[in-house]
Amino acid sequence: MKSKAEILNALPKVIGHRGAAGHAPENTLASIRKAAGLGARFVEVDATLTCDDEVIILHDSDLGRTTNGHGPVLLSRLEELRKLDAGAWFSKAYREEKIPTLRELTSLLKELGLGLNLEIKPTIGWQIPTAEKIADELADYWPDELPLLVSSFIPESLPIIAQRLPHLPLGYLTSAIPPDWQTRMRGYGASSLHCAWPFVTEQVVQDVHAEGYKLLAYTVNDTEVATRLYGWGVDGLFSDYPDRLLALSPEQGS
Ligand code: G3P
Ligand code: MG
Repeated sequence: MKSKAEILNALPKVIGHRGAAGHAPENTLASIRKAAGLGARFVEVDATLTCDDEVIILHDSDLGRTTNGHGPVLLSRLEELRKLDAGAWFSKAYREEKIPTLRELTSLLKELGLGLNLEIKPTIGWQIPTAEKIADELADYWPDELPLLVSSFIPESLPIIAQRLPHLPLGYLTSAIPPDWQTRMRGYGASSLHCAWPFVTEQVVQDVHAEGYKLLAYTVNDTEVATRLYGWGVDGLFSDYPDRLLALSPEQGS
């Protein structure tokens, strides 16, 4: 089993956002394969819960944007969700894509040897059951050899993961960095701060590093922005086009 420090120190500078969401339908197995094919060594996906307590990979609480279904995910059974098309909205070439389960995603990551940033994305109101079920599943079958970083915008998700899986590093996910971020990081037991890239400055990078934390930023698809942020020492960037950032310097992905 890898320690927190081993996972954090091995984080690559490029993380495929929702797989490689610029090239393939986000949060599908095709998107993960695409990210790996482009050279990414680590991907980020969003995980949420169905009404029959299954963990699936989907960004929104509603099915409408990224599938041919509609309505709340939390009111849908896995069996119904399996029938939906999660790829055609992006391109006809992907019309066979399904919403993956966390278990299926894990198998593919193992096959490809990719690390994962799993973002807990509960339907609001269902934060606690979502984090508990994700923790149970990870404890049950996550392969020890694969690096895993769990993050969430929902602070109460993180202690649930910490209690069940104390060896995993946790990321505190936010858009802007709140004034009391140090207190929050300590309180949540987080090792990395993940924020929206426009809120990163050179001073922010220095301050976060001075407290002993990693700083990751989303979602960077522009190489000029990436070059500036890497120059300030940011530890990792989430990108829908990991190939663009990897092209800056191939070792960024290792
Ligand atoms: O985890 C980074 C990023 O994915 C957070 O925003 O909305 O793309 O899940 P979102
Ligand atoms: Mg996300």
